[in-house]
Parts: sequence; C-alpha cells; structure tokens
Amino acid sequence: NWTPDSFVDSTVATIKEKVGNDKVVLGLSGGVDSSVAAVLLHKAIGENLYCIFVNNGLLRKNEFESVLKQYEGMGLNVKGVDASERFLTKLAGLSDPEAKRKAIGNTFIDVFDDEAHQIKDVKWLAQGTIYPDVIESVSVNGGPSATIKSHHNVGGLPDFMKLKIVEPLRMIFKDEVRRVGASMGIDQQLLGRHPFPGPGLAIRILGDVTAEKVRILQEVDAIFINGLREDGLYDKVWQAGAMLLPVNSVGVMGDERTYEKVVALRAVESTDGMTADWVDLPYKFLQKTSNKIINQVKGVNRVVYDISSKPPATIEWE
Ligand code: XMP
Repeated sequence: NWTPDSFVDSTVATIKEKVGNDKVVLGLSGGVDSSVAAVLLHKAIGENLYCIFVNNGLLRKNEFESVLKQYEGMGLNVKGVDASERFLTKLAGLSDPEAKRKAIGNTFIDVFDDEAHQIKDVKWLAQGTIYPDVIESVSVNGGPSATIKSHHNVGGLPDFMKLKIVEPLRMIFKDEVRRVGASMGIDQQLLGRHPFPGPGLAIRILGDVTAEKVRILQEVDAIFINGLREDGLYDKVWQAGAMLLPVNSVGVMGDERTYEKVVALRAVESTDGMTADWVDLPYKFLQKTSNKIINQVKGVNRVVYDISSKPPATIEWE
C-alpha cells in the first residue's frame, strides 16, 4: 500500500540517516524530477542542500527567470547561473546533432563542476534519476555517469563526479513522482509540465545555432505553448514544441516579396516517449497560431504542422 505521504516520510528519514550533516549539491533543470528530488532533500536536510540551476541559453522564453523565482519561492537554497554565452560559444559552427549534444553535455559538466567547487566540503551529488532512467541507462550505456565519464576519460573525472550519489526517486515512476510532488505541495503547473530535452532549443534549431535563431524560436515556441494553455489544450498533449528549419521560403507581404524562415509545429501524444502519435489539434487553433506567429515573429513567413508518428519519425527533429 504505497502512498505518496508514506514515501515522503520514509525517504526523508532515509536521507537524514544517510547524509547526516553533510552538504549535498543538486542540479535543477526546471523539470518535474529534479524539482521533486530537490524538495524531498530540502525537507530532509534544509540549507545543506545546495541547488544549482544553469541557464544554457537554450531554454524557453523567460523560463530561466520565472522558474528560478519559483524555486526561490519554494524555499530552496538555489543559485541561478547564467552560462548562456558559454554554451553559445561552444555551439558556434556546429551543425551535426550529436556534436551539438556533446558540446552542450560537456559544457554543462564544466559549468556544474565550477559551481560545485565553490561549495566548501560538499560530499554528495543528488540526482533526480527515476526508475525508467535506471533501466534504460543500464541497458543502453551503463548509466548516466558512464555517459559523463566518456567525455572526460582523457583529463580525468570532474571533481563533482567523485562525490557520493543520492537518488531519492530511483525506485519510482513518473506518475508516482508527480503524486509525491503534489503531496509536498509543489505547484500543479510545475508538476504537469511537458517533457523538455536537456539540449533544449539547440536540437529544435536544425543545423547551426546562433543567438538570433534562439530568439526567433523562443518567440514562436511561446506563442504556440501559450496558445495551447489558453485554449485548454496543454494538458491533452504529452509534449509540444516548434522546430526552426534551415530553409527559407518565398512569401509576400504587402507589395514585397519575402524570403524568410519556415517553422514546424509538433504536438504528440505518448506515455513514455518511446512511441508517439501526432495530435489532431483543431484547425481553428492551428490557423490562429499560424497567423500569430507570422504576424508577430520577424523572420518567419511560413508555418507547417508535423503529422508524423514515432516510429518511424522521432519526436525531435534532431
Ligand atoms: P525522440 O526525439 O528520440 O525523443 O523521439 C524522445 C523523448 O526524448 C527527448 N529527447 C531528449 N532528452 N536529451 C534529453 O534530455 C536529449 O538529447 C534528447 N533527445 C530527445 C524528447 O524531447 C522526447 O521527450
């Protein structure tokens, strides 16, 4: 008879016993898992939990500021680190999707390591790993730490990798994580957020990433996502987002011929992201959204809707 409340009680007790008076560092992503893990640890050890929230410059519009505020409002001991420039510099000129992922992953490790170093005598690294991550990473690559290690097998491990690991959610599933979060009073809007990939908008900008492309895609994405919320469609969709395509198309505005970017909107239904169906969004909604995007976002003159299922397509375009 598993209940969220009993899980919280027993996990808080276990963390207290395991960690004692040691300091713990945790990377917050803005997503459900790391947020719930943070609140659980904070309940157990209070100010000894040091949270780091990195802005990689590839988040949704205004997300860094608003989520950071939300974390502070929850009483978490959190430091926001704006590393946007550092990430964009590393991404400059890279077009290959895996090269982009690697650059982002490595930069995250470097930024996090720099920050973890500033916490005196930190002993533990906390992670929001959930049960499906445990299974997946064992079968695929030997665990998330194996992925991190592969990037650092030349110069040795970053120092934070030498920390002991605490993962309070590693035995539970996503729906249970949400229930645990709700029982601790975490905001429903945060708990109900769509999944968002770690490399963020970089893998939704096909080809190379520039600050200007990020800005355009943030505007497009915000119009789409806010529209879903306004029309009560957000919770009917498992994940949604926009892709900035590396092609220009011809359009017309007034008497002028335009030659500007194309964006693709994608919304899918899924349970775990392994398979997915495109969502049959109302035509009226698509029409309104397309008009808003083309009228409001300079540099975009065409909007298309992705009607591909996974498999054989994937959810992201890169
Ligand atoms: P695909 O595109 O493979 O995506 O159908 C399945 C789910 O995984 C997310 N995704 C990622 N998440 N790092 C992440 O943290 C990544 O590199 C990455 N690639 C895809 C995607 O958003 C979807 O939820």
